[in-house]
Amino acid sequence: MTATRIPLCTLDDIPTGLGRAFEISGRLIAVFRARDGKVFAVDGRCPHKGGPLADGMLIGEQVVCPLHAFRFHGTSGECEQPGVCSIATHPAEVRDGEVFVTITQTLREEAVA
Ligand code: FES
Repeated sequence: MTATRIPLCTLDDIPTGLGRAFEISGRLIAVFRARDGKVFAVDGRCPHKGGPLADGMLIGEQVVCPLHAFRFHGTSGECEQPGVCSIATHPAEVRDGEVFVTITQTLREEAVA
């Protein structure tokens, strides 16, 4: 496995409480900004029916899917709905006003990329 820290945008590029979509190594990632400036990065497709999570919003530390309002924790990825699988999350941080996300790829993903 390889972990890569990637600069995405400035913190001001992400509206408070909302998300932005990024494609990183062919993978759709949704990045959200909380009111306190903390950022969360999760896989961009909802595991329920593929909703575009970046079009959802952040309530507290929960990402809300825009299609059916399932909520996923921004750090653990766990869903509040029983029987729905969780989403992958990615370490995200802000340094000097710039947003970075660390993406971990498996050897298989690296071979395909
Ligand atoms: S597609 Fe996300 S909750 Fe249904």
